Order: sequence, then structure tokens, then C-alpha cells
Amino acid sequence: MLELICPLCHKSLQPDAHHWGCINNHGYDRARQGYLNLHLVQHKKSRQPGDTPTMLACRQAFLNAGHYQPVSDRIGELLGTAQPAALLDMGCGEGYYTAQLKQALVNCAIGGLDISKDAIIKACRRTRDIQWLVGSTARLPVPNASLDSALCVFSPWTWEECLRCLKPGGQLLLVGPHPDHLMSLREQLYESIHPTPELIKALPEGLNIVNDQTLRYALDLTPADLANLIGMTPHGFRSSPERQRAVIETGLTGLEVAMRLVLLQRC
Ligand SMILES: C[S@@+](CC[C@H](N)C(=O)[O-])C[C@H]1O[C@@H](n2cnc3c(N)ncnc32)[C@H](O)[C@@H]1O
Repeated sequence: MLELICPLCHKSLQPDAHHWGCINNHGYDRARQGYLNLHLVQHKKSRQPGDTPTMLACRQAFLNAGHYQPVSDRIGELLGTAQPAALLDMGCGEGYYTAQLKQALVNCAIGGLDISKDAIIKACRRTRDIQWLVGSTARLPVPNASLDSALCVFSPWTWEECLRCLKPGGQLLLVGPHPDHLMSLREQLYESIHPTPELIKALPEGLNIVNDQTLRYALDLTPADLANLIGMTPHGFRSSPERQRAVIETGLTGLEVAMRLVLLQRC
């Protein structure tokens, strides 16, 4: 099991049948679905943080159809080599990549953390073999130097928390879009294309890049797939409904997936 800390006083949390508690009598009940909510009300910036239920439903349908299976396989290869014993998926969403990692790394204690309770409830339905946590990547509920690996796929992270939680020699895998990602779709959705922000703007001291690669392949998508892809991303609310309808009607062939995967190691 992953070690956890109290989000209030940062002391170690210990489990009993339905509950986790610390030495200062702060307690957290395990939800009936199996997750633990460690996101305190006083740390919330909105009532329902994270992705909306519609985005989550679209993402789950799109991912379950296997369109990002090559991405999941590459994540497994990159993180599996070090045979981690403790791994946290930060911003795990509805747990697609987390659950596949658990299948590959059966002996690894794996946690999946997301700020959206709805996402974590969906994740609980994938498997109970993972510690599903509602929480923020701004305050990871794990002790200092307790993680062998951390993963972040298309989610926000903070360098400070990654540096605090990774063991020396521990690895952080960041996955995000290359500027070419889904280009022919973006060209149809927008008048002019917004530049893709750099995945890593400035590398902090204490982390070195050990592998930096771009995974590229093409997808042929049906109208239903395209509706899910648009709905699971900010394109769903940034682009005009008319343009969305036009591209969804026709479907798209040869849409390029271009994912940047950067593996970093804690010194
Ligand atoms: C684009 S989705 C990616 C989900 C998942 N990694 C995947 O690729 O399927 C981004 C996720 O980050 C979560 N998120 C946003 N801000 C967060 C935060 N501060 N802490 C934890 N999760 C956060 C959202 O709720 C959402 O599930």
C-alpha cells in the first residue's frame, strides 16, 4: 500500500476497516466506492473542481475504444523498466492509464489521484487494486521521498511537490501534447491555430531528463469517436459548435497523434 499523510497536519495516516486516521485524531472515511477524499474544503478553489462529467464521459468512451493504447503501452515501457514499488498517477482522471499500469506492475503499490470526485468514482469501477484518492497535485498526500515513480498525463503538476515526494533516483514521467498533436483537427476547428505551450518551461534543480521522445501515429476516427475526442478536451468549449458539427459529420482519417513523453530522474 502507498504511504499517505494527513492533509491537515502532514502526520502519517494509518488505515483500519473503513477509515484512515493520524496521531492527531484527524480522520478520513473510505467512501463506499472505495476511494479516500483527502482534498480539504479549505483547499478547494471551486465547488466541483476538475473536469466536468461530460468531459469525463467523453474521455472514458474515447480511451476505452483503444485510440490511445499505444500511449499507454509506451508509458508502461518507460515506467516499468525501473520496477517501481510505489507509484502515483497525478491527475489520473478516470484511471485508464493507472489501471493498465497496475496490470503490468502487479507488485507495485499504485495510487491514482485526481481533484475531480466524479473522475475518481469512475476510476473505482475500473479496479479496487489501486488506492484512488481525491486530492490536488498542489498538495500530494504522500510523505517526503516515498515514491519511486510519478506519472502525469495531460494534467497539472508542481515541481515542488514532485521533488518532495520522489525518492532519490525516483522517476517522473510527464506526458503532454507535441505542437503537431491533432493538427488536422485543430485546423478545422479554428480560424488560426494557438501555439501549444511548452511541456517543460524551465527544469528545476534536482531533476534530470533521462528520456525525451515523441510518439507519433495516425488515427481514423468515426463521427462518434470525434465527438468524444472534442468533448474530452478544451476544444469542446473553445471552438464553435458549428465548426465542431461540420468536422464530426465527415469524420477524419489520418489524424496525427503526437505525444511528447519526458522521463525525469530525481538526483
Ligand atoms: C486532461 S485530464 C487527464 C486525465 C488522465 N491523466 C488521462 O490522460 O486520461 C486532466 C485531469 O486533471 C485533473 N486535475 C485538474 N487539476 C488538478 C489538480 N490540481 N490536482 C489533481 N488533478 C487535477 C482533472 O480533473 C482531470 O481529470
